[in-house]
Amino acid sequence: MQKEEGKNIVKMTVSGDNSETIATSPTEMIFEPILEHGVFRFDCSVEHRKAAFPSVSFKNIKDREVPVISHSVPAYTPTCVCLEEKQVVTFEFSPGTSFYGTGEVGGELERTRKRVFTWNTDAWGYGPGTTPLYQSHPWVLVVLPTGETLGVLADTTQKCEVYMNRGIIRITAPTAYPIITFGPFSSPTAVLESLSHAIGKNCFMPPKWALGYHQCRFSYMSEKRVAEIAQTFRDKKIPADVIWMDIDYMDGFRCFTFDKERFPDPSALAKYLHNNGFKAVWMLDPGIKKEEGYSAYDSGSKDDVWVKQADGKPFIGEVWPGPCVFPDYTNSKTRSWWASLVKNFISNGVDGIWNDMNEPAVFNTVTKTMPENNIHCGDDELGGVQNHSHYHNVYGTLMARSTYEGIELADKNKRPFVLTRAGFIGSQRYAATWTGDNLSTWEHLHMSISMVLQLGLSGQPLSGPDIGGFGGNATPRLFGRWMGVGAMFPFCRGHSEVATDDHEPWSFGEECEEVCRAALKRRYQLLPHFYTLFYISHTTGAPVAAPIFFADPKDSRLRTVENAFLLGPLLVYASTLNNQGSHELHHILPNGTWLRFDFEDSHPDLPTLYLRGGSIIAVAPPHLHVGEFTLSDDLTLLVSLDENGKAEGLLFEDDGDGYGYTEGRFLITNYIAEKHSSIVTVKVSKTEGGWQRPKRRVHVRLLLGGGAMLDAWGWMERLSRLLCLQKVKFQN
Ligand code: NOJ
Repeated sequence: MQKEEGKNIVKMTVSGDNSETIATSPTEMIFEPILEHGVFRFDCSVEHRKAAFPSVSFKNIKDREVPVISHSVPAYTPTCVCLEEKQVVTFEFSPGTSFYGTGEVGGELERTRKRVFTWNTDAWGYGPGTTPLYQSHPWVLVVLPTGETLGVLADTTQKCEVYMNRGIIRITAPTAYPIITFGPFSSPTAVLESLSHAIGKNCFMPPKWALGYHQCRFSYMSEKRVAEIAQTFRDKKIPADVIWMDIDYMDGFRCFTFDKERFPDPSALAKYLHNNGFKAVWMLDPGIKKEEGYSAYDSGSKDDVWVKQADGKPFIGEVWPGPCVFPDYTNSKTRSWWASLVKNFISNGVDGIWNDMNEPAVFNTVTKTMPENNIHCGDDELGGVQNHSHYHNVYGTLMARSTYEGIELADKNKRPFVLTRAGFIGSQRYAATWTGDNLSTWEHLHMSISMVLQLGLSGQPLSGPDIGGFGGNATPRLFGRWMGVGAMFPFCRGHSEVATDDHEPWSFGEECEEVCRAALKRRYQLLPHFYTLFYISHTTGAPVAAPIFFADPKDSRLRTVENAFLLGPLLVYASTLNNQGSHELHHILPNGTWLRFDFEDSHPDLPTLYLRGGSIIAVAPPHLHVGEFTLSDDLTLLVSLDENGKAEGLLFEDDGDGYGYTEGRFLITNYIAEKHSSIVTVKVSKTEGGWQRPKRRVHVRLLLGGGAMLDAWGWMERLSRLLCLQKVKFQN
């Protein structure tokens, strides 16, 4: 950049654009406090503030528009350069600052030297450097050398470039968009909590069954095959809760239809699955076959719901069924039309819906999507009538929203479950996600950890990869190790592409089957803990899975660890290598006490588990599906004492579905443990919620490290608050 003498003009090159452009010099952006203490909105000028489009990421649009009274000033003020059509925003930080976030992006966990583009794209077989992928999160989590953390959101739906390098963030997107900063706050968790006050609490509360294991394939080709798969899980005693129906269940890939030969009676199939403790998730794509006589096409045409070309005619693009039209989900009339189709579809016994190809993906085009000059009739509060480039990145989110609303219409007493491939920051309000079409390679296994973590650091707590890899064939070792770590991800689903070998847990020989069984048994034993973490995430905005630097953000050793993560106080260390098990790796651990334990199932393909000193987590018996859990099950408390001989932990329990928990039908129990001389006493310190404490046996397992533990059994008495006095005697 070079300054011309005497003039406030600089010559600068905007990345991605090789021509030199004359621009005004960088100026500090103007700011106003919004939302809550420590949150600021920045704009280039008053005119830019007025010209900005409404927010789609904020849950309540007004929260971004209406300033709050505050006398605090921002600790970091970005500068901006406004070119004719672009706005370039720059932040500068001191050396030792680390960058995270930017959502679903491959490559390294720490983002320095990374350039990320937001433009939702069908990205089969992506690599560590591929950008953009399926989702857009113009959001950076900035961890300062002190461990204090700042969040930076570029609140634009448009194509945006986020460049991070040595203490600099540079954001380039079409004019005019605001920047929102959150913090700096004392920890990354505090920033994510604050972000959730803007974009909605981190996720809808998932039904408990959605935290079980999901088995998918492109595709199980008939109801007979689906039943066979379900039965094999039960026969082999491998825990599982959900079977997925990919596009081949449809009649000629027409959404909302069923193939008459292969899936003649979906309700009967659903009944069979339900009777065997399974749920079923079915796919719905946005591409609607352009065919007169097909009811979804006819009703959509009658209601005029399709995205239009620049000339006003419905846009036609090719996807699985051939030529298709695309619902314009930016419009409330279209969303209601879609939601009513979803409502009817649910009556076939459908438990959850999978929205795929909703970038939207269009075949046989260079851009892989629809033309940017297509027209959307957006609602005024979303930005009004705009071309596709404005709404492209939120198309998938709005489809997921409309699907979610359709499921709600069908039964307002059930928690909707939607999985979406495309997303935007804020889409966790409506749907879970997965990391798209990965490959059966070690590199993809490794990347899957960082990708799940980064989605969590970008507001989406419920994500996971296709375990085993989508494209290509896994080896037994790769599959086993992937299942080992995959069973610890928030969303846990195996999936593989058409024409690949079978990828069910029993498809790779006896040893791998045993590893998968053990991995999933671990997950089901840990389900009370997972469910509690989701409740915390739902109510506070904290991520479910977090990088291990969350345990001590100032410790720079932890900031680049990519094969370990935290599930609350539980630390998971995985091997993503072919030739070494996790126990053979050097484990960098946060300072303090971390006690290693297992479920008497140790195997080189399973990750190593540690529990932070000072914590207690709840564990259940290893059931085969969520429906088998009962309140009278034995409850195991894993206790890891800190240096002062103390520990505490939380357990959330409710019906596992529905909204009773919002009306007091739940139980939150705070457990504490204390060691006095050689006696450890475990008791309930506090409870919340209207549920009575169930009568059940309690098994306290005191971790001693190195896998050793001491146990004691006792009873939790009904109605008593300070009820369980478990004495665990142990030797010093
Ligand atoms: C692309 C999705 O990413 C993949 O998971 C799915 O199996 C295929 N579409 C077919 O529906």
